Amino acid sequence: MHKIGIAVLGCGRIGRVHAGNIAAHPRAELVTCYDVAGAAAAGLAAQFGADCAGSVEQVLSDERVHGVLIASSTDTHVELITRSVGAGKAVLCEKPLDLDLARVAACREAIGPLASRVMIGFNRRFDPSFRALRERVAAGEIGRVEQVVITSRDPAPPPASYIAVSGGLFRDMTIHDFDMARYLVGDIVEVQAMGASLLDPAIGDIDTAMLMMRAESGALVHVNNSRRCVYGYDQRIEVFGERGMLQAQNRHKTTVEAWGGERTRAADPVEDFFIARYAEAYRAELDHFIACLESGAVLSPGFADGEAALRLADAIS
Ligand SMILES: NC(=O)c1ccc[n+]([C@@H]2O[C@H](COP(=O)([O-])OP(=O)(O)OC[C@H]3O[C@@H](n4cnc5c(N)ncnc54)[C@H](O)[C@@H]3O)[C@@H](O)[C@H]2O)c1
Repeated sequence: MHKIGIAVLGCGRIGRVHAGNIAAHPRAELVTCYDVAGAAAAGLAAQFGADCAGSVEQVLSDERVHGVLIASSTDTHVELITRSVGAGKAVLCEKPLDLDLARVAACREAIGPLASRVMIGFNRRFDPSFRALRERVAAGEIGRVEQVVITSRDPAPPPASYIAVSGGLFRDMTIHDFDMARYLVGDIVEVQAMGASLLDPAIGDIDTAMLMMRAESGALVHVNNSRRCVYGYDQRIEVFGERGMLQAQNRHKTTVEAWGGERTRAADPVEDFFIARYAEAYRAELDHFIACLESGAVLSPGFADGEAALRLADAIS
């Protein structure tokens, strides 16, 4: 069987997750890895028996490479997308598309119809529970959707050095929730937010936020964000409609619960962070990308979804 050859650009935290998933995928091959920090690429390539490229040009001129997975720092995404689709490759690019909406618009203009060759790594769409929730909403199980509550809290703030180049909480973290809102209820026409710095002033950015949005459908969406959560990575969604409610709850390390005289239902902590919590979602996202390359189906979520989420972040930043 002919395998889909994929290159990974950017071999940091999330690049390593994707490289492992590509190497393990039965219909894909991890062809090559590239990182401006050569040792990061060399280590990853050696781990999975792939090549280690010395430049982006070398990756893009490699005929074995059909798809490019961009997992480099956010400020490199637009340039690497432009070059990759220009070289005839399909792209799976990590969120966010960029930090600057004007640069995203310029990229869209520059690549024209090749934007359809770009998929954005909004991995939460591929989480089995969130996907099932959306399918059940779409099937009409709770009737017209009136309210959505999205809770998304990180276990602990990242280092100040990360925050400084992250584009701020809304572009870096809430971007996933903007996309989840659009995934569940369609286009958003209004957004309001309040942010606060409640954890550590040294973070240099707001660390706590509550947002209200209105969808074109009329549904209202509420997002809760925090950069700190002592019980783990808090990821929950509630959709309320005319005939009831659907909830997707947190995932715990095990399903064991303790019941006693002091307390009942004492469960394990929830998953610590994104790599464990969304492991299946990253695999399903990659599988969708590969299936689209095999069949020629339109890549989704696409460039327009990345731009729409960034536009919402921009509106309140
Ligand atoms: N979808 C998710 O759940 C998720 C999770 C984490 C990170 N991300 C996104 O993935 C991207 C990377 O984040 P990370 O946490 O892995 O960061 P990281 O700092 O761990 O890794 C980024 C890597 O990119 C490399 N790099 C920088 N410029 C490059 C260039 N021009 N070409 C090739 N490599 C380059 C760096 O040397 C580094 O090794 C960010 O855009 C981030 O927002 C998404």
